[in-house]
Amino acid sequence: MKAILLAGGKGTRLRPLTSNMPKPIVPILNRPFLLYQLDLLRRVGSVDEVILSLNYQPDRIEELIGSLPDLGLKIRYLVEPQPMGTAGAIRFALDFLDDTAIIFNGDVLAELDLKAVLQFHRTRGANATIVLKPVENPSAYGLVEVDQDGNVKRFIEKPGNQKLDCNTINAGVYVIEPSILHRIPKDTPWSIERSFFPALVDDGERFVAYVSTGYWIDIGTPRSYRQVHRDIMDGRFPTEPFRSRPKGALVVAASAKIEDGVTLEGPCFIDEEVVVKTGARIGAYTVLGRKCEVGNNANIETSILWPSCAIGEQASLSDVVLGQGCYIAPNAVVSEVTLGDKTVVPDPSKTAD
Ligand code: GDD
Ligand code: MG
Repeated sequence: MKAILLAGGKGTRLRPLTSNMPKPIVPILNRPFLLYQLDLLRRVGSVDEVILSLNYQPDRIEELIGSLPDLGLKIRYLVEPQPMGTAGAIRFALDFLDDTAIIFNGDVLAELDLKAVLQFHRTRGANATIVLKPVENPSAYGLVEVDQDGNVKRFIEKPGNQKLDCNTINAGVYVIEPSILHRIPKDTPWSIERSFFPALVDDGERFVAYVSTGYWIDIGTPRSYRQVHRDIMDGRFPTEPFRSRPKGALVVAASAKIEDGVTLEGPCFIDEEVVVKTGARIGAYTVLGRKCEVGNNANIETSILWPSCAIGEQASLSDVVLGQGCYIAPNAVVSEVTLGDKTVVPDPSKTAD
């Protein structure tokens, strides 16, 4: 069977990280995000092809994924001539579907038994199955109301402050029969959440909901991007390299050079060829990407640094995400901010008044 990953969005809420790096391949620890989704799809056993539905910076995605060793799944890159929206993108892929398809938002990480979802879809004789997740604050998502038998009754995309007594949201994972995809007009931007799903409800199609209580997150904001790292390090989303290690592990690559007199606090992740100099402190929930350099007595905590960042002596970082190749000068104090690739933060003691 085929799976479609909707991976064409601009990732606006994750800017400036996504200015040069489309959201589906932002690194989580040291792996492009999409690989975690492929892990899940591989476990289904019957998925033989994954269609990557692309629009924003498709070449970067194709280049990166194409350069990886065998992924165990055939990948088809499908690039829309213009953003077709979440349903238009699926319609655009229709010619490549032959049977029941699994469809995934390209920015959700879920611990989910997809085999059980498929089984549920088949047992219910559904034309569409949507995975729902109960959350505390559903206002920023698609809210889905179901009846006692799990039939979808109402779909309200981003209800905002509307008062609603339902907390199950669209988890961005669907199983759909290709036969109903002809409802989506060809060559027209179309939304699955605002148009296609509400129409299925209105027309009484067999549209059912599978409620999942496992781990789930949409990585599309800086806050959730940081949160997912924390969740992996704490074992809430079990995946390597933390899954097989004790709580609070220090994961330090073999080629990283940690000088004497450095304080490392777990859990943290230090990638290949990182250099950390004497007197520096790497606090818990920190990720240092490949080839980052941390100067003497610098202090970094709860921060994620993409590859090739340089942190000067005595600089201090907390709750920060840095894109690739940033330079934080000695003595700079940076907190609670997300900075894009190659940002330079000057030494405050040398800044002219
Ligand atoms: N190919 C393609 N073309 N993909 C697109 C397009 C497009 O025009 N527009 C968006 N996408 C992809 C994005 O890359 C993302 O992976 C996915 O579709 C969902 O888009 P988002 O922009 O991230 O939507 P959202 O997070 O605001 O809301 C959606 O996800 C929520 C769960 O995370 C909705 O599906 C909500 O109903 C849902 O609750
Ligand atoms: Mg999203």
